[in-house]
Amino acid sequence: MVKRLLSPGAMSKKVIVTGGAGFIGSHTVVELAVAGYEPVIIDDLRNSEERALEGIAAILGQAPTIHRIDCNDAEAMRRMLKQEGAVLGAIHFAADKAVGESVTDPAKYYRNNIGSLAVLLGLLREHGVHDLVFSSSCTVYGEPASLPVDETAPDANATSPYGFTKVACERLVRDQCTAVPSLKAVLLRYFNPIGAHPSSLIGELPRGVPNNLVPYVAQTAAGVREKLRVNGDDYDTVDGTCIRDYIHVVDLAQAHVRALQWMSERQAPLCEVFNLGTGAGNSVLEVVRTFEQVNGVKVPFEVGPRRAGDVVSVYADTRRSWEVLGWRTQRSLADALRDAWRWQQGL
Ligand code: UD1
Repeated sequence: MVKRLLSPGAMSKKVIVTGGAGFIGSHTVVELAVAGYEPVIIDDLRNSEERALEGIAAILGQAPTIHRIDCNDAEAMRRMLKQEGAVLGAIHFAADKAVGESVTDPAKYYRNNIGSLAVLLGLLREHGVHDLVFSSSCTVYGEPASLPVDETAPDANATSPYGFTKVACERLVRDQCTAVPSLKAVLLRYFNPIGAHPSSLIGELPRGVPNNLVPYVAQTAAGVREKLRVNGDDYDTVDGTCIRDYIHVVDLAQAHVRALQWMSERQAPLCEVFNLGTGAGNSVLEVVRTFEQVNGVKVPFEVGPRRAGDVVSVYADTRRSWEVLGWRTQRSLADALRDAWRWQQGL
């Protein structure tokens, strides 16, 4: 006699990927497909472009399913799930992520980031989908008291409305896990994802002037921007500039695949959090110099004032993601900066 019947979802290879046309989402869609999953993209392309979908299709030799709908639109999401039938799990990337904009328009961040997760959680429950990976950020640590920062560090120190939406979303997932005993969730705290797919077919597509360091560096090297502005060189660090943990986006994407596999080998209840970083910190100037060295280009820069709200130094304690999840990065900062430059040259 079969004691426990597997739910139809557990037999499916379909994974809902909200924000699947975005930077991290598109790389994860590729790695999911390579690992034998069937990614289903949910993205209305408000912050991404058709080009990302074309790139995914070119890498995989076939276009994954896409539903061009707003994750906050519960009715459209419900119709989508009905149409897709049995689903193994969901990865929720869709969110706004510009720290500065979150300060000037916090309501947008609370509505989009927390609202879309609430819609998704309700629908996963309704449709009996049990496995969820949530896209969180090291921003929840704020300025950590000690480094490298591990997952037990206080997680309510976010300095921006954007950061606070990640804290609130993590809490929402935990509360939902308590309320729905069949739900399994993995919360992934990303450090600083950079680089591009080695094929140069997908990568980061910032709209307008990039907020983040590496796209700005790449555009400066390409002559699109005149000069990089280094945001302060009077911090108490090795060369006075801020320290971050820069992780290759393909390593990050592969961590999502691992998280799904890991969850499927386990029973509910389960709600776990992991840092996703390299474990190494690099300064802004180290990133600039490494970019110049590995790519043989110049990156003109000037030192400007500090950027409001910047954390001085943050890098990951990676022990837990290695010991529990069995995942660690395989690519270096130089690899990531080489791939970022190759991608930039094709734009
Ligand atoms: C922050 C969050 C991260 C979040 C991301 C979303 C923290 C620690 N990190 O990234 O979790 O996902 O926002 O966008 O809260 N810099 C320059 N000149 C530039 C651009 C950046 O000097 O033109 C410097 C910044 O001041 C910073 C470093 O480069 O010191 C990295 O900046 P950025 O790439 O924007 O990432 P975070 O601010 O770390």
